[in-house]
Amino acid sequence: MLDIKITKTTTPKTKAPDDQLGFGKVFSDHMFIIDYNEGQGWHDARIVPYGPLPMDPSAVVFHYAQECFEGLKAYRTAEDKIQLFRPDCNAKRMQNTQERLCLPVIPEDIFVDAVKALVEVEKDFVPHLDGSSLYIRPFTIATTAQLGVHAAHDAQFIIICSPSGAYYAAGLAPIKIYVEDTYTRAAPGGTGFIKCGGNYAASLLAGEIAEKRGYSQVLWLDGLEQKYVEEVGAMNIFFKIDGKVYTAYANDTDGTVLPGVTRRSVIELLEEWGYDVVIGKLAIETIMQASKEGKLEEVFGTGTAAVISPVKQLDYKTDVAYINDGEIGPLTQKIYDTMTGIQWGRLPDTKGWIVPV
Ligand code: COI
Repeated sequence: MLDIKITKTTTPKTKAPDDQLGFGKVFSDHMFIIDYNEGQGWHDARIVPYGPLPMDPSAVVFHYAQECFEGLKAYRTAEDKIQLFRPDCNAKRMQNTQERLCLPVIPEDIFVDAVKALVEVEKDFVPHLDGSSLYIRPFTIATTAQLGVHAAHDAQFIIICSPSGAYYAAGLAPIKIYVEDTYTRAAPGGTGFIKCGGNYAASLLAGEIAEKRGYSQVLWLDGLEQKYVEEVGAMNIFFKIDGKVYTAYANDTDGTVLPGVTRRSVIELLEEWGYDVVIGKLAIETIMQASKEGKLEEVFGTGTAAVISPVKQLDYKTDVAYINDGEIGPLTQKIYDTMTGIQWGRLPDTKGWIVPV
């Protein structure tokens, strides 16, 4: 077990009511920090009051974006137990990201022990309201003070927590998505498969434009031909066409799509339920054509923050696909019920996905 020095806040916050949390807007009282220095490795694990980070202005993170992050949640069950969903998957994905970004790699046991320890300290911040949870945001930043474009040799791994409700303001209501045909998100050999802030920074302009036009997010097409569907702003995406379920290829060590933990869990469930899950290239034209033929049955996004998010409309150039009369589809509802049932402890965890705190 990781040795963590705990310093409690002397000014605890007044907690926001569970029904007014929003997503990622309020933060708990403490944060976890561990330092990395070359020659010393990871050291000085601590939980301290939440607050500003003193940092050299020349730290590599500010100039060359050498940083990465993860997202997972702590759930409160009806029996008042607190539990995590597959934190080992987040730890491994952060390791893949760190390798790609030349950041020091955080051992899986440090990642998981730190998450558990911080959530234990912050357990009163885990909301009671159905559908709300404690969103946990681990991140790694390069702290070496240097302007030469070289990998840093010092870093910090930090975890903050945010009691949160639904990611989309409308909750489980189906959303409208714009198929982005100007900007691209990722190219082969790039960083599309890792969770680094730079991917999201580069996505903001398209997202802002789409939002002003009334869409919740953009659907990214591949960066080479802008032909094949990849992922949506903050989630992976699935299409049910003529009985089969399609989603883009996502791999831990290459590729252009983020290998989501929820995506992976949904694929496992669908396969167990006997669905034909096709993982690979799916052209946007094929989807729009399927819609015209009445074969585009359901579309839904998956993500830790977004959970399972039904899509009611896809706009591509001058074409529009309306899905399931604007209603959540039966398969999307079943996946939502099953995933949230396991996460909140309403359904048995037959797969060993749940880790108690
Ligand atoms: C998550 O689902 O945890 C994410 O990191 C997506 C987004 C909020 C950036």
